[in-house]
Amino acid sequence: MPDTQSIYADIGGREAVEAVVSDFYDRVFDDPVLEPYFEEVDREALYAHQVQFVSAVAGGPVSYEGADMRAAHEGMGISGDAFGRVATYLGEALRENDVAEEHVETILAEVGALEPDVVGQ
Ligand code: HEM
Repeated sequence: MPDTQSIYADIGGREAVEAVVSDFYDRVFDDPVLEPYFEEVDREALYAHQVQFVSAVAGGPVSYEGADMRAAHEGMGISGDAFGRVATYLGEALRENDVAEEHVETILAEVGALEPDVVGQ
């Protein structure tokens, strides 16, 4: 696992992660391929879990309290294309919020490693 310990603090802590996640979901919900997956979802709970999740991936002192990635995406039949779109929006949201490129790449690599748990379940 790469050293993610300083990323959370480096990018600006909780406030920065909240801005990234908010921007990320704006992009996801604006995408007609992705939006239908989220129609029935409690978006406030999703947002809260995603803030925890991204904080934890970035090495922040936050514990993720949601479902594990396989369980969270089970039965959705998510395609590789949909996964790629979500990962792209996360990258855009990170860059848009001035996260340094090396940190963007580390976070995207961590998230990319989750593809087998998310796609085709
Ligand atoms: C890039 C990789 C992804 C990550 C890191 C990720 C992360 C998460 C997290 C942390 C949750 C919250 C789980 C919970 O509240 O217990 C979640 C839920 C969800 N994700 Fe993802 N996700 C990814 C890709 C996708 C894709 C590609 C789709 C669909 C196209 C998707 C659709 C959903 C839906 C619909 C939920 C809500 C599940 C529910 O509350 O019943 N995710 N995801």
